[in-house]
Amino acid sequence: MNKEYVAPPYRIKMVEPIKITTKEERITYLKEAGYNPFSLRSEDVYIDLLTDSGTGAMSHFQWAALMQGDEAYAGSRSFFKFEQVVKDITGYKYIIPAHQGRGAEQVMLPQLVKHDSMVFISNMHFDTTRAHVEIAGARAIDCVIDECFDTETYHPFKGNFDVKRLEEIILDKGKENVAGIIMTITNNSAGGQPVSIDNMKKTVAIARKYDIPVIIDGARYAENAYFVKQREEGYHEKTVKEIAREVFDLADIFLMSAKKDGLSNIGGIIAIKDNEDLYNQCRTYIVPMEGFPTYGGLTGRDMEVLAVGLKEALEEDFLRHRLDQVRYLGDRLRDAGVPIQYPTGGHAVFVDCKKFAPHIPYHQFPAQSVTNALYLETGVRAVEIGSFLLGRNPDTHENLESPLELMRLTIPRRTYTYKHLDVVASGVIEVFKRREQLKGLTFEYEPPVLRHFTAKLKPIE
Ligand code: F0G
Repeated sequence: MNKEYVAPPYRIKMVEPIKITTKEERITYLKEAGYNPFSLRSEDVYIDLLTDSGTGAMSHFQWAALMQGDEAYAGSRSFFKFEQVVKDITGYKYIIPAHQGRGAEQVMLPQLVKHDSMVFISNMHFDTTRAHVEIAGARAIDCVIDECFDTETYHPFKGNFDVKRLEEIILDKGKENVAGIIMTITNNSAGGQPVSIDNMKKTVAIARKYDIPVIIDGARYAENAYFVKQREEGYHEKTVKEIAREVFDLADIFLMSAKKDGLSNIGGIIAIKDNEDLYNQCRTYIVPMEGFPTYGGLTGRDMEVLAVGLKEALEEDFLRHRLDQVRYLGDRLRDAGVPIQYPTGGHAVFVDCKKFAPHIPYHQFPAQSVTNALYLETGVRAVEIGSFLLGRNPDTHENLESPLELMRLTIPRRTYTYKHLDVVASGVIEVFKRREQLKGLTFEYEPPVLRHFTAKLKPIE
């Protein structure tokens, strides 16, 4: 196994001091937060691994570009710069900005739902994508390969579609009831796992056979492209940009949370290959939802930042270090026997808490329990991706059992050092040593949708 890790291709120009808290303080903060780290103040967090979304550091080129923001309501210079960069990367004809990924989802997904009882099929829907599918009156079906749920065994593309099952689902539901096939790259919920080009080609061939639109949910499309370069036969010599373009050529629609591989703190993208009617529908619909179609909830300076960030995120030196940082943390944990989704994904290390705390049943949220213990141990904030996040069946209101109970240690881009990751690793290893003492959780307050953001919990004594 390669134990060399690439050093950062940047140096630090500005710093943000972070507060070191005591364990006693953290006990109080977590209790006040209802045992839900989403409700912690970020000030009370030492290393914040809640998300890689909008939390990265901008380059000086981005800060400089920000000054050029044109804040015109309609047709700003900044929009046209942004539009040109997205066209150049995707090859798509129609580009609309949105305030972030879910903004893009809320505009696009309802346009694809033509009647009741439609479904979207994805390798795995991200939680806001699932929510917008449901708000649009459709249902979300996940269709990822089984290997994804076996966290211990190596597979180069654990985010792949199960193409056999994909076709079975289409035949079962009837092709006229499938609103779209969503390729989530990388597959966030499965552990930031990549999807191979070969798998995407097979998926798209099925979509074409049944005349179903193909949507890329590409928040981390550049990381996916770098994995393809590293791992897929025939792609080692191609540039990440070429690989990404090959992916865009396959699909019809690109939705992006630009807060990840756009290297910005805010922003989303709707890009449509060539369907003019769909573009016109979105342009009309976005006005009351996000804003006029040349700003979509963003300021001119945000679009300037994105026009630079989207290009920087495709730089291979950046991606090599980025993925190595994540791999480093994963290796440190694996070496200590901590069960993780292996191989590590693009943006985060996912700790397998079904194995970590097998004594806690899914409806008492084992990964949330580990996440809380980690915060108490070292002030590191991680996030649960498991049954707590998954929520309830919208029809029966039963607690759904997630196939995986994961604690996600999400690494912001260009923000933390390897030494920070050592602190994270030591904290997780410490909690792992006394894992038998971890307790399950129960609700004190449960909101009806997206409960993990605002729920209040308490430990079961
Ligand atoms: N799709 C994927 C694959 C995502 O990971 C996210 C966000 C979204 C869509 C929604 O984008 O946040 O800009 O509205 N993921 C973040 C995360 C929140 O922490 O994984 P958004």
